[in-house]
Amino acid sequence: MKRKLVVANWKMNGDRARNRVLLDYILGGMPSGVDCAVCVPFPYLPQVGEILEGRAIALGAQDVSEFSGGAYTGDVSAAMLADWRVRFVVVGHSERRALHLESDDVVGRKAAAALGSGLTPIVCVGETLAERESGAAEQVLLRQLDALAAVLPSELQRVVVAYEPVWAIGTGRAATAEQVQEVLYFVRRWLARHVEDANQVRILYGGSVKPDTARQLFGLPDANGGLIGGASLEAQPFLEICRAAASSARSS
Ligand code: PGA
Repeated sequence: MKRKLVVANWKMNGDRARNRVLLDYILGGMPSGVDCAVCVPFPYLPQVGEILEGRAIALGAQDVSEFSGGAYTGDVSAAMLADWRVRFVVVGHSERRALHLESDDVVGRKAAAALGSGLTPIVCVGETLAERESGAAEQVLLRQLDALAAVLPSELQRVVVAYEPVWAIGTGRAATAEQVQEVLYFVRRWLARHVEDANQVRILYGGSVKPDTARQLFGLPDANGGLIGGASLEAQPFLEICRAAASSARSS
């Protein structure tokens, strides 16, 4: 798979005026040769969906309920997201695992709910610093991935996996290229045991990706793109990251 996927994760940022300015700039400078999605807070899905209508950037959300409907105050179902033509949804982000106590099983069921409504889940996995330093990183990743396989045996081929080491998120401290490739390869081998064609599943890296590190990270053999937090909130760095993805796909 040659084209890279760059996904903006706005987290809990934005307002209607800023969203429009940011997206106008991004749409004006988006290079060809890269797939792009913007995952926005729920209230802005209609606004951003309208701005992106007919354009080359896909609409995404940052969470989805594992349930299809009913008495779940504050939750949003996959069918509701699909109703707003959402194509991607982040599930199992480490901030939700930590702050909302989402277990591996819940994450798996959320991914299944997303797939059931025709959305592509971007499933985040990654270890904390303590887990890495104690040598438990692979064990943690395996637990997170296995929980996914339990829920999605026949649909795994359609997910996107994002490796986001918790210690690299929002810290300005991206993992080194060697550290990233080692884990991406680990994920690829895991996929090879569970899906027909592991090379067709996109694996992203996320965690303090910046314009100056993007090119090297996207050039790694098992990197199919990136999940971008802080650097997606300004047009210039985000576009530079998208250009790095487009050019690394051309030269691979
Ligand atoms: P960051 O966030 O790029 O700000 O580190 C990435 C993420 O949390 O998805």
